[in-house]
Amino acid sequence: MPAVSFQNVSKTYATTRGPLHALRSVSFDIEPGEFFGLLGPNGAGKTTLISILAGLARASEGRVVVHGHDVLSDYREARRHLGVVPQELVFDPFFNVRETLRIQSGYFGVRRNDDWIDELLTGLGLADKATANMRQLSGGMKRRVLIAQALVHKPPVIVLDEPTAGVDVELRQTLWQFVSGLNKRLGSTVLLTTHYLEEAEALCGRIAMLKQGQVVALESTSALLARAASNVLRFKTDAALPADIAAQARITGRVVQLPALDARAVEHVLARLREAGVMPEDIEVRKADLEDVFLDLTGAHTRPAAGPPQGGAAPSGGSEDTSVPSVGARKS
Ligand SMILES: Nc1ncnc2c1ncn2[C@@H]1O[C@H](COP(=O)(O)OP(=O)(O)OP(=O)(O)O)[C@@H](O)[C@H]1O
Ligand SMILES: [Mg+2]
Repeated sequence: MPAVSFQNVSKTYATTRGPLHALRSVSFDIEPGEFFGLLGPNGAGKTTLISILAGLARASEGRVVVHGHDVLSDYREARRHLGVVPQELVFDPFFNVRETLRIQSGYFGVRRNDDWIDELLTGLGLADKATANMRQLSGGMKRRVLIAQALVHKPPVIVLDEPTAGVDVELRQTLWQFVSGLNKRLGSTVLLTTHYLEEAEALCGRIAMLKQGQVVALESTSALLARAASNVLRFKTDAALPADIAAQARITGRVVQLPALDARAVEHVLARLREAGVMPEDIEVRKADLEDVFLDLTGAHTRPAAGPPQGGAAPSGGSEDTSVPSVGARKS
């Protein structure tokens, strides 16, 4: 039995500009014990899918089943199997950290839970904040509490919606150590969304990519990586690129990145640049990574072929559905 089963899930929002199809017939299963990544550009539908899973939103069509429990008709049982860390920070400002966690335990009918609460506080670096009021915590600490809150009833399925957005390096590492530990030690299933593709590459065994509400890839991380051109040629320039080169390039300010299968491809590009009188600076060749596959599949870097070669980082459409995610981990 899958840990989570999305079956033809569609979601349409009525908006003043007409119906908005946030999800279009999304179907996939997550098996128990998987560390699963859900990726996609801003507005792709990730949070919508997670909200439906968590019972916070209703699917327009299709169904979601958690360990055999339908999230609509069997809400309480489905919810009991889930620990959800929402994208938005929401908490009750009147309680301290330990009280917040005890209340959440009580909500799930879990009593005498202080040993586990202590383990969570220690594991998430909150031990010295147990009696601090929620109002007194920094943003990153509040996020830690949200994570502890999601885990307090020891759910078999952990759902994390961008848990590391805006948090410091230390917490990211603490969090991943802790969650990977639960995944390995207890066999917890993890569903993660993140814009840090390095994280997804390092942690997730399998990945689904969403684009405008549709699944555009569903594969093991290694199979996805194998799809990319094996290398990327990267250099800096202020000059206009020849049109054939510009058409395949990903350009961020002065930085140009091009897929390059092998040394011959690299030589070809450099020769074309020389012919065109372009002097590339800081040339390097790196291995292609998940971000390259992501941009290929989600089309986030497609630009008009005839457009200006130094068009900056803006994607062609400019609509929110195709915008490039803020990939904080890339050094440009
Ligand atoms: N309550 C709502 N009413 C109308 N439209 C909505 C609502 N919630 C989300 N949407 C729209 O649904 C689409 C998907 O949004 P969603 O929040 O699921 O994206 P996301 O993949 O989580 O993006 P992000 O990476 O920015 O968090 C967007 O176009 C969004 O504007
Ligand atoms: Mg979201």
